[in-house]
Amino acid sequence: MTEHELQKLLNSLSLEEKAFQLSQVPGPFYVKDAQIAGTEVENDLTDLELAMMGSTLYVYGPDEMHAVQEKCIADHPHHIPMMFMMDVIHGYRTVFPIPLAMGASFDPDGAETMMQVSAAESSSEGIHVAFSPMLDLVRDPRWGRVMESTGEDPYLNSVLGQAMVRGLQGDGRVSSCIKHYAAYGAPEGGRDYQNSELSEHTLREYYLPAYRAAVEAGADMVMSSFQTLNGLPSAANPWLLKDILRGEWGFKGVIITDWAAIAEMVKHGICADLKEAALTAFLAGVDIDMCSMAYHRYLPELVREGKISEADLDRSVLRVLTLKNKLGLFENPYKDANKETAKELILCAEHRSAARKAVSETLVLLKNSKNSAAVSNDTLLSQKNSSNNASDALLPLKKDRSIALIGPYVNCEELYSAWAPNGRNEDTVTVQAAAEELEQEGYKLTYSRGCRLETRADLLAKSRESSILQLRCGTFPDAAPDESELAKKADAIQAAWEADTVVLFLGEHRSVSGEGASRANITLPENQLDLLRSIYEVNQNIVTVVFSGRPLDLREVCRFSKSVVMAWLPGTEGGHGIMDVLTGKENFSGRLPMSIPVSVGQIPVFYNQLSTGRPKDPVKDDPNYCSAYLDTPNRPLFPFGYGLSYSRFSISQVQLSANEVENCREDLLQACAEVLNTSDRAGVLTVQLYIRDDTASLARPVKELKGFQRISLAPGEKKTVKFNITPAMLSYTGKDNKRIVEPGTFTVWIGEDSETQNQAAFTLK
Ligand code: BGC
Repeated sequence: MTEHELQKLLNSLSLEEKAFQLSQVPGPFYVKDAQIAGTEVENDLTDLELAMMGSTLYVYGPDEMHAVQEKCIADHPHHIPMMFMMDVIHGYRTVFPIPLAMGASFDPDGAETMMQVSAAESSSEGIHVAFSPMLDLVRDPRWGRVMESTGEDPYLNSVLGQAMVRGLQGDGRVSSCIKHYAAYGAPEGGRDYQNSELSEHTLREYYLPAYRAAVEAGADMVMSSFQTLNGLPSAANPWLLKDILRGEWGFKGVIITDWAAIAEMVKHGICADLKEAALTAFLAGVDIDMCSMAYHRYLPELVREGKISEADLDRSVLRVLTLKNKLGLFENPYKDANKETAKELILCAEHRSAARKAVSETLVLLKNSKNSAAVSNDTLLSQKNSSNNASDALLPLKKDRSIALIGPYVNCEELYSAWAPNGRNEDTVTVQAAAEELEQEGYKLTYSRGCRLETRADLLAKSRESSILQLRCGTFPDAAPDESELAKKADAIQAAWEADTVVLFLGEHRSVSGEGASRANITLPENQLDLLRSIYEVNQNIVTVVFSGRPLDLREVCRFSKSVVMAWLPGTEGGHGIMDVLTGKENFSGRLPMSIPVSVGQIPVFYNQLSTGRPKDPVKDDPNYCSAYLDTPNRPLFPFGYGLSYSRFSISQVQLSANEVENCREDLLQACAEVLNTSDRAGVLTVQLYIRDDTASLARPVKELKGFQRISLAPGEKKTVKFNITPAMLSYTGKDNKRIVEPGTFTVWIGEDSETQNQAAFTLK
């Protein structure tokens, strides 16, 4: 349609029809027991009203989408098509590693590919808008939704966020709806839906940049977050939606709330009833009401009462119609939904192979030492070790050693998160399935489950058992021993005893991270730790592969394992991707996108903290009156940016092209370093550039990531890595919340992780 035709259509709509364009209800309102519509009695909506909705979410598959769209267009007085939306967070049917893992890849091309695959599969099933990427900066691993984020760094989140928007929207198949604007990732205590309390400075410096970058990359939609930010839900916050998003960033697309956010304003206690909430959200700048049933009920009335101007209503409706037009729905309301295409594309070899490659890029090798970490006097163990003299690191796994694969993740099909609503167990390549393929190559492998994988229901049951009253009294019912669990454990211990090497596949169940899945304790489940300790008693050659949607407290894992791998939730091709790397066919290259704390008491622990007046000096290490714990190290167990590989690299001293520069050009100077692969393995290193403004009018972080490059190096190969330093990299949000660049000295680091000490300095005049 031309703009003129769109305007004509808009002018022909009644107030009610306009309000429905701004309303969204879920798929089950249209499809119930495979019947299209007909649930109006329950929902208090007639078929006509359902047809007039502007959009829906969670209608599954091309057949249902076709049927719903066809009926709605036929019933709609102006035959306006609906938009179909869904969360497509880390793949559709071909599920990729979770976004936090994609953060570990430090690979924008890989993130873009993931979203291209997601767009191809989801659009063939009738999806027009993906609620993705999630761009919330996260610093608290207790929050279950850290798995949906790419981590703790604003720059990394921005680069990957832009790549994901490009991937989704690149070929015009799907619109990206970025979320959750703003700062949903900072809930107090890591408890989902809690208030985020952040100064404007902190928001602008750390939490807003990734959303802004995604808007600049052209995202068609923005979802407001449903928690309160400094006491105000984002859907009621005109400063966020109008002043910053539309005013400062020039966003022209559609703003939608998160699920039922308008209705929740009543629960937050900032509106007396749903009508007031509808008014508040509309005046704040929300275009679409997701599932609050507020806009279609109250907007017409509010316009008639003169509380909302019809011109403002029209502006919002026009945005929605314009997006439908951009998607081509007026010409073809079914767009790319096609059963045959879906069959061809979904889980095709090309998509699976992209997902497999992504797994290998996202695994992080935390440790691969040659020596035992813990000491034991057990005689059984000393016998065992004397006949089992490991002279080399356990990884990569060797064909000439017998290997016991043990743990509840060995044969687990649930390798994808709760945010992969189209993921299916039967599509997953488990670790065991991938390992069995290796047996043909001569690997000597056995498999044992060891213990069960506790789910969200188990955690909930336990937390109910330890109610406050029981905690006060100290009385807990004794759990009866479970015979089948004892048998599983005995089998695993036997297998471990007989093997040269044990690879333990442990972790959190997928239901334990994601929405509404906050945890106060972030260790592995006790039954798995018990398994680990027991196995250590009979075999110390332990590699532990950790599956998780969040950084965990890995102290015990590190204590009892010679090698530790963070595998996150790796998706459909998880088994293949993991075995590719464990056997050394692929090399490790992942780096941590979020610090792994020593313990929950350190949280939040993140690398780009502000400089304090009494830092804990790593060299002088004065323990008195410094910003440190008495009983725990200050540093995380593993820092942001950290990761090992089978290769070893050395990075030369940072060289700067100038020691003094004028603040006038785009590229102020160049920082470079030579990177040498000192090993006999080809590998990929993510070389990281950090900068610190040494003296500024506000305290600045101890260092901040400002660039990175993934470089491949053959054995013995040397490459020079160059970073152009621009004024934007030196700028920050000043006292008046405007971006400034201040003269003075800056420190520049080029290194392998955020703890690098490889630095040089220059002065900006
Ligand atoms: C989540 C959003 C999601 C929406 C629609 C909400 O509960 O917070 O991330 O996009 O549901 O599924």
